[in-house]
Amino acid sequence: MYGDIVILSGAGISAESGIPTFRDSDGLWNNHRIEDVATIEAYERHPEQVHDFYNGLKIDLQKARPNPAHLAITELQNGYRNGTVSVVTQNVDLLHEKAGNRNIYHIHGQIDQAVCMNCGRITDARGEVTTETLCAGCGMAATLKPNIVFFGENLLRMNEVDALLDKCRLLIAVGTSGAVYPANTFARIARYHGADTIEFNLHATVNSYDFDRHVIGRAGETFPRFIKELLAES
Ligand code: APR
Repeated sequence: MYGDIVILSGAGISAESGIPTFRDSDGLWNNHRIEDVATIEAYERHPEQVHDFYNGLKIDLQKARPNPAHLAITELQNGYRNGTVSVVTQNVDLLHEKAGNRNIYHIHGQIDQAVCMNCGRITDARGEVTTETLCAGCGMAATLKPNIVFFGENLLRMNEVDALLDKCRLLIAVGTSGAVYPANTFARIARYHGADTIEFNLHATVNSYDFDRHVIGRAGETFPRFIKELLAES
């Protein structure tokens, strides 16, 4: 029987909530260049364009509702008695929160926050942020950046996540392409520490070899079914 469980989620867990992924055919990176909206250089070169991108994404993400895959995690967290269930998400949407999930670690940041490049304060950014928005900490304008980890920046909460990966006995990846480091090493790390690893995706991915088991299909269908079986066994 498993002890602690880590669920690593990617954009695919939110796809059935109507949120585009990044690398599928209709993905965000097919319609926007990463260099234009997801790097520090882009933010320094044209902050207005970066703010426009995330202000637009924010509106779409705030309208989205959790799907059965998100809701199944709450069911697991409420019913699992053999250890803790943690959610390590690459997603900046708040669908895990809206579904009532707990123990959520946003390693790529979250869409409803901004961080001040002058004083470092993290502030609420549920509304639109522009270069005129003043930082609630230092009062300066043109210093707020979406609290989203841009390519080349350090991930958030990694010390805590490293401890989770060392301790967990089951790592479940749901809807991630395995395209981005270091999240694409988490299954290998967990396995090294003795965990079983399972991948839920529409198809095999570039790091499928790190997983003991593969469940192919739409996460909104396959993941709740797996959670029910897991709870029945535990
Ligand atoms: N059910 C299960 N898997 C799905 C579904 C679904 N309904 N729809 C899509 N997928 C899978 C795709 O097959 C793909 O493997 O979800 C994955 C989405 O991959 P990406 O678009 O690359 O998203 P993700 O893995 O989260 O990207 C990681 O890259 O650009 C950065 O910061 C960004 O957090 C993001 C990171």
